[in-house]
Amino acid sequence: MKYLLDFTLTDIHPTGAGDAMLRLTPVDPVRGGNALRQVSAGQFVNIHVPQSHSTFLRRPISICDVCTDTLTLTLFVKDAGAATHTLCNANSGEQFNILLPLGNGFSFDSSIKSPLLVAGGVGIAPMLFLAKQMKKAGITPTMLLGAVSADRLILTEKLSELGEVNIATNDGSAGERGLVTEHSALQRQWDSIYCCGPLPMMKAVAGEALKKEISCQVSLENVMACGLGACLCCVEDTRHGNVCVCKEGPVFNIKELKWQTM
Ligand SMILES: Cc1cc2nc3c(=O)[nH]c(=O)nc-3n(C[C@H](O)[C@H](O)[C@H](O)COP(=O)(O)OP(=O)(O)OC[C@H]3O[C@@H](n4cnc5c(N)ncnc54)[C@H](O)[C@@H]3O)c2cc1C
Ligand code: FES
Repeated sequence: MKYLLDFTLTDIHPTGAGDAMLRLTPVDPVRGGNALRQVSAGQFVNIHVPQSHSTFLRRPISICDVCTDTLTLTLFVKDAGAATHTLCNANSGEQFNILLPLGNGFSFDSSIKSPLLVAGGVGIAPMLFLAKQMKKAGITPTMLLGAVSADRLILTEKLSELGEVNIATNDGSAGERGLVTEHSALQRQWDSIYCCGPLPMMKAVAGEALKKEISCQVSLENVMACGLGACLCCVEDTRHGNVCVCKEGPVFNIKELKWQTM
C-alpha cells in the first residue's frame, strides 16, 4: 500500500558541498507509523518540493533510514538542482508532502553469508537501511564506499557499527586511492553484491560479479516523475522487455538487465 502523507522536518544536518541529511516525522502518527513499518531497504519516496515552478514534479529520493519507534524517516539529499537545493536548505518545522514507500527494494534471505554492499556518492544513502536490515537478520555485511574525497563520504560511522567499511577516494584522502571498482576488497570472496551509485560504477561492478558468478543486485536511478508506473518516463529495456524502474525496480538482479551486451 502507498501512502500520501505530510511530514515535518525535525532535523537537518549539512554534510558538505551543500548536501544534507534530513530527518522527518509524519504529521499523522497512525498512518505515518503504518507507512514506515512497510518500508524495505532500497525503496524510495517521491517528495513534493513547493515554492518553484521548476519543481512541479515530485522528486525521487532513496530511503536512507527508518525508525518505527521514533517515527523517523531519514533522507540524504545531494544538492543537484532546484528541488534538491530547496530541500538541502529547508528549516526544521517545514512540512513536505511525501508519497511512500515506492519501488521494490533489495532482496536477501538468511542463506547469504558474505554480502558486499558497494556504493558511491549519493548511492551510499540506501545502504544504511539495507545494512541494518541484514544485521537484524543475523547477517554481517561488508561495505565498500566510494567518493571523490574524504569530505564527501557519508554514513561511514553508522555503517562501521554494522560491519567492516572499506573506502576508496579518487584523491586518496581516505582509504585506497582510486575507484571502488579498483579497491582490493572487491577481489575478496563474496556470495552476493548489492550496489548503488553512478551508472558506470554499477556497470563495472556488475561486470565483475558476472565474471565471478556472484549474485548481484543494482539500484537504478532513471529519471522519474510519477513514481507509480503511470507516466512511463523511467522505462528500462530489460530481458523481460520494457519495465518501469519506479515500479518493477529500482532494484534489479543484473541478470535481468541488458548491460552485458552494451
Ligand atoms: C530511485 C531514485 C532514488 C534517488 N535517491 C536519491 C537520494 O537518496 N538522494 C539524492 O540526493 N538524490 C537521489 N536521486 C536523484 C534525485 O531524484 C535528483 O537529483 C533530483 O530529482 C534532482 O532534482 P532537482 O530539481 O534538484 O535538479 P534538476 O535540475 O531537476 O536535475 C539535476 C540532475 O538530477 C537529474 N534528475 C532530475 N529530475 C530527476 C528525477 N525526477 N529523477 C531522477 N533524476 C532526476 C537530472 O537528470 C539532472 O542530472 C534519486 C533518483 C532516483 C530515480
Ligand atoms: S516514474 Fe512514472 S512510470 Fe516510472
